[in-house]
Amino acid sequence: MNYHLISIFPEFFQGPLSCGLMGRAVDRGLISYSLINPRDFARDKHRSVDDRPYGGGPGMVMSLDPLIQAVESIPDPGRVLVLSPGGRLFDQTMARELAAEEDLTLVCGRYEGIDARFQQFVPSETVSIGDFVLNGGESGALCLMEAISRLQPSFMGSADSPLEESFSSGLFDHPHYTRPADYKGTMVPEVLLSGDHRKISRWRREQALLATAAFRPDLLAETLLGPEDYSFLQRTSRTKAGRNLYLGLVHYPVLDKRNKTTAVSLTNMDIHDIARVSCSYGLGGFYVITPLQDQQELARTLVKHWREGAGKKANPDRVRAMESVEIAADLRESLTRIEDRCGRPPKLVATSARGQGSMTWKDLRTVLYKEPVFLLLGTGYGLAPEVIQGVNEVLPPLRAGSPYNHLSVRTAAAVTVDRILGEGG
Ligand SMILES: C[S@@+](CC[C@H](N)C(=O)[O-])C[C@H]1O[C@@H](n2cnc3c(N)ncnc32)[C@H](O)[C@@H]1O
Repeated sequence: MNYHLISIFPEFFQGPLSCGLMGRAVDRGLISYSLINPRDFARDKHRSVDDRPYGGGPGMVMSLDPLIQAVESIPDPGRVLVLSPGGRLFDQTMARELAAEEDLTLVCGRYEGIDARFQQFVPSETVSIGDFVLNGGESGALCLMEAISRLQPSFMGSADSPLEESFSSGLFDHPHYTRPADYKGTMVPEVLLSGDHRKISRWRREQALLATAAFRPDLLAETLLGPEDYSFLQRTSRTKAGRNLYLGLVHYPVLDKRNKTTAVSLTNMDIHDIARVSCSYGLGGFYVITPLQDQQELARTLVKHWREGAGKKANPDRVRAMESVEIAADLRESLTRIEDRCGRPPKLVATSARGQGSMTWKDLRTVLYKEPVFLLLGTGYGLAPEVIQGVNEVLPPLRAGSPYNHLSVRTAAAVTVDRILGEGG
């Protein structure tokens, strides 16, 4: 693999490319690299490689000409990758794809980035190494080089090593331990000392599943799992974030179609479907909130039918879902019950089809790892303003950018919970 590095700081690469496995790979001729400094192609006496941005604003922009000439000076540039926070996110799949190339040119930006017309002159792709901003593309280029070079045959001593690492099977790697087995009273997991290789390999797989489910459920959703994996996850999948989330289906005070505050009747389907969502995602609980006595009675009859009555015989599976349903007269009552269970008051978060929201989905996910949240869903035409004004935060509307976003409350509940706790989050 031949890397061509375009950078105004070629000295940046010398240390990292001369030590460890990378240094050895260079010495053995497994990888080679050349350094091309755009400054060598600058035409003015100051050897400038940047200029002020058109349209104003802070910082400087890398000029086209020295960069284009730098690329043109490479006899076989191969695929040209421009490091940029706004590019395709680099991952193990891309590393594998690039490992099959013979030549790669990595263009390292500096300042505010590169003149956007570069791509019109040099067929190239932009690559980001993460959702953060660095001073320049050099450290990103080194990340790419290491990840790609590790996949070259014989780069590492053992040909198996890259196959066992994080992401190779779509999951994180399992935890590793070495001697001593007992460090100041903290022991290595017993199974690793058992000598039972089948058990060890199952345990490692389960640890990888747990770590991936906890931090990157999106990876789990993209990985083909086996029946043993699913049965393990089913036994362990109730996450802390899920347990901390409570749903409240508010029937009063909500708005009617004339924007007047009103009380709305219960809907059988809402209760069933939201109870099933609550159960599927392992939530702390689901409160049906109505001050109307006859509606509370109706809700109790409905829930009893499925938990204890004929419904239980007809569909035993529904019992579990209906077990999460609680009936409360108002917000205060449901809040007190959640507080009794959690030992602290939950954060109150409202949902709305209108407005902008005050917290992002990611913010809410972070809160759920630490404290309970009571998420309110409005029936009718949504939660009344007095409810919205009394909450701690409001989530952004679902499909806010769409000309039509009037979802049923049970659909909104499912989409909202999946966005917060689902594999895509
Ligand atoms: C200060 S950054 C420019 C940031 C740019 N103005 C922005 O906000 O997206 C300078 C250079 O660092 C490199 N860089 C910074 N963060 C990066 C990242 N996350 N991935 C890849 N390259 C990055 C790019 O080459 C970029 O042109």
